[in-house]
Amino acid sequence: MSPFRLTRTLPEDATEAALRADVLHGLTCSPKTLPPKWFYDAHGSELFDKITELPEYYPTRAEREILATRAPDIARATGARTLVELGSGSSEKTRLLLDALPGLHTYVPVDVSESALTQAGHALIAERPHLNIHALIADFTTQLLLPRAPEPRLVAFLGGTIGNLLPAERAAFLTSVRAQLSPGDALLLGTDLVKDESVLVAAYDDAAGVTAEFNKNVLTVVNRELGADFDPAAFTHVAVWDAEHEWIEMRLVSRTEQTVKIPALDLAVDFAAGEDLRTEISAKFRKDGVRRELAAAGFDLTQWFTSPGELYGLALAAPSRPAPALRPAADRITACVR
Ligand code: AVJ
Repeated sequence: MSPFRLTRTLPEDATEAALRADVLHGLTCSPKTLPPKWFYDAHGSELFDKITELPEYYPTRAEREILATRAPDIARATGARTLVELGSGSSEKTRLLLDALPGLHTYVPVDVSESALTQAGHALIAERPHLNIHALIADFTTQLLLPRAPEPRLVAFLGGTIGNLLPAERAAFLTSVRAQLSPGDALLLGTDLVKDESVLVAAYDDAAGVTAEFNKNVLTVVNRELGADFDPAAFTHVAVWDAEHEWIEMRLVSRTEQTVKIPALDLAVDFAAGEDLRTEISAKFRKDGVRRELAAAGFDLTQWFTSPGELYGLALAAPSRPAPALRPAADRITACVR
């Protein structure tokens, strides 16, 4: 048996259908929105990698620093034989965990991007010929079905990506992860923390303009995939700290009154001058809030690691007993506001 397996739990055309649905919904409601998952085509993923190296963008470095010092503690606490990584990609941080887990049998990277999975998977196989890799093509925000793999399992959701979900989406997501886990398994959750507004805004509006380009890339994706005629130069990138919700919001502001055509949806979208298109929220957390959200989903926060200066937090959580009832699907988000 080959140590690399790839399972598709998403139909091949699901991505295109989901993009169409998201664009149709998001551009016909008020305020206009596009979900952040569409940033990450090949160019957008490159731009994100560049962001992680910017002086202003501290989360990646802060999380890496925690993992570099705490991976042995995490390994000892979990004894994981299977590592599941949701939204993999960040292979460098993955290696810090893999190297610390001596009894590791199987690595399960989960991502919507097949190319990212095969690339990262084959690189890892070359380095670790004895590691079983079972890559999963899945959208873990809507469905997560883990393959059979030796227990205990450690599910890692790093990078602070949980902050890109709205509170109700986070609750549904955490509950669905909990439903897949058994006593003895664990969740490792990366969360960016509330801090000074100027530090937060700079991280999402860097001086070199890389985040602005990243933000506008979503327009390029819609142009290419749905034949739209967005002019990225006709929008301005802004990053706003929402102190009430404690999240950063990225927006694209229409510079002028304009109409954008989206032929694949048979749609024309009017923008007023100064009108916002909301493209991402990135929630920032406090330890108590993380504990509360975990508890509501049936997890106990068992260890909490922070980076120097309390910039970033890494939560280790264990299933609490008894498992809570799964929330009905009716809870899914249909509102315009992201
Ligand atoms: C790392 C995907 C969570 O919210 O910080 C970086 C992506 N957006 N700059 C984040 C992002 C703008 C991001 N995640």
